[in-house]
Amino acid sequence: MNARWQVTGTTRGVTRFPVYDAAVLGFEDYWYPVMREDQLGSKPESLVLFGKRIMFYRDRGQVYALQDRCPHRGIRISIGKQEFPGTFTCRYHGWTFDLKTGNLEAALTDGPDSPMRGQMQVRSYPVRVLAGLIWIYNGIGEAPDPSVDIPSELLHADTVTGIRVSERPGDWRYGAENGFDEAHGKYLHRDSIFVTFRHPPAWVHSEIKHEPEGWITRSGTGHAFQSEYPGLGTWPKMKPWKTTKVLSRASIRLPCTLRIHFGEWVHFEWYVPTTPGNHRYIQVAMKQTTGLDALLFKFRYWTYLRWFFHGEFNDQDARVVEMMNTPPEELFRPDTSIIGWRKLCEQARGKPMMPEERAGEYAAEAKAV
Ligand code: FES
Ligand SMILES: [Fe+2]
Repeated sequence: MNARWQVTGTTRGVTRFPVYDAAVLGFEDYWYPVMREDQLGSKPESLVLFGKRIMFYRDRGQVYALQDRCPHRGIRISIGKQEFPGTFTCRYHGWTFDLKTGNLEAALTDGPDSPMRGQMQVRSYPVRVLAGLIWIYNGIGEAPDPSVDIPSELLHADTVTGIRVSERPGDWRYGAENGFDEAHGKYLHRDSIFVTFRHPPAWVHSEIKHEPEGWITRSGTGHAFQSEYPGLGTWPKMKPWKTTKVLSRASIRLPCTLRIHFGEWVHFEWYVPTTPGNHRYIQVAMKQTTGLDALLFKFRYWTYLRWFFHGEFNDQDARVVEMMNTPPEELFRPDTSIIGWRKLCEQARGKPMMPEERAGEYAAEAKAV
């Protein structure tokens, strides 16, 4: 254990994966989903992501994201209004920023010849609207095409989605570890309403397989739906109404994207870091289909999947993610999945992000390595 990586501001301890431990607020240089496209109305939305307050605003059909802090006196730019197309004006003294570049175009109350003009800038973030979601790129400089980070299934023309967005307490890494955790589905979720008619296995042994598009997948090497436990007896009881035996297929990739295959439809989720110890939870149920079947999938989502899968089932996850407090930890054989994910994070293409007061510490550490 390397005490220098001890994370402050969260209860999370250190693992033997230093890059992962440093990523209190995720990784730079990735596209992250933020909200449903239709959640952004005519007013700005101000969100905290990666430890920074960022405003989202739609101007003439185009969505922009700007650092939501006016450099003049530090108030939120998002409480202001639009005075001129392509810009947004701070409510306090009228500093007016270009939405695309973040450059100060005018300081209205200092007159048109204000010497501040062109001297100030707030950070602007590349944004795209794809697959019914607004995506932000949290890197500096030229953004890569979003398809490098968005699962290709979501970018097909005939993709139908049901999307739920919520704020969840708990470190984003606990969210990801729980999402890809092999064993919990067989115990934590066993009595969920969503699996009323399904019989999860008692146990599964798996190994990690690398797949295209940066996914790692849990690949089963053995399983049983019922077993004899020495000195204890048989577990679980086979319930006659649980007519379907389920073996799920789970994958994860950077920056924080989980995928579960359910046969003809797919579930994705992201754990987008907000502040240390909290994250924004984006859930997407999707099916590739058109016409009447697309309508039926929407109907199924809004009458069933949203409440019993994205709701009740994943709320069981939310409760343990909020409670989790590791390391220290004593991992067991199914946690190969968790180790596989942590190893993947060590290969992240962007730097790990942490609260600003710790950034210097990371730079010093990175040099020392
Ligand atoms: S605080 Fe924004 S213009 Fe003064
Ligand atoms: Fe779960």
